[in-house]
Amino acid sequence: MVGSSPASLNMFKPEKTTDKTKNYVLMVESAKAFMEGETDMIALLANLSALIKLYVDDLNWAGFYILKGDELVLGPFQGLPACTRIPLGKGVCGSAAIEGKTIIVKDVHEFPGHIACDAASQSELVIPFFKGGLVNGVIDLDSPTKGRFTELEAEYLGKVAELLSAFLDGS
Ligand code: SME
Repeated sequence: MVGSSPASLNMFKPEKTTDKTKNYVLMVESAKAFMEGETDMIALLANLSALIKLYVDDLNWAGFYILKGDELVLGPFQGLPACTRIPLGKGVCGSAAIEGKTIIVKDVHEFPGHIACDAASQSELVIPFFKGGLVNGVIDLDSPTKGRFTELEAEYLGKVAELLSAFLDGS
């Protein structure tokens, strides 16, 4: 289905390789395809969370928090039920949102104020996305492996966040 519009109701046929970077490229291409012809944010984020979980190995949670007022509110995700609301500035998600910057946490136990939604989580990657230049929410990935996330994951999830920001800006 990569490259064609999901609005056509075609079945999504996952292409996955043994090459990590190639898989991340496929994730970004698929994310782009899912944005074409779609206008509903929840439908899009639901599919993006599934794509991230599919293409990024060794995750126990992948999903979205949307900024509403001074709180991040849980959006579509894959994984165990999670904290519903995170105050801006709290935890890894709230810190990434208030700073408007990506945060890679190699060991969540060493991040002051880390919010443990799933006891399995050992490392975390949080990437903000924007609407009209302002933070609109974050993409949150958790792994059961310490040191799971590197600049490579930050780069490719950053591309997903850029696409999402462009989607939110209507471009
Ligand atoms: N660990 C996050 C909370 C969200 S869960 O990981 C899904 C944090 O510290 O902000």
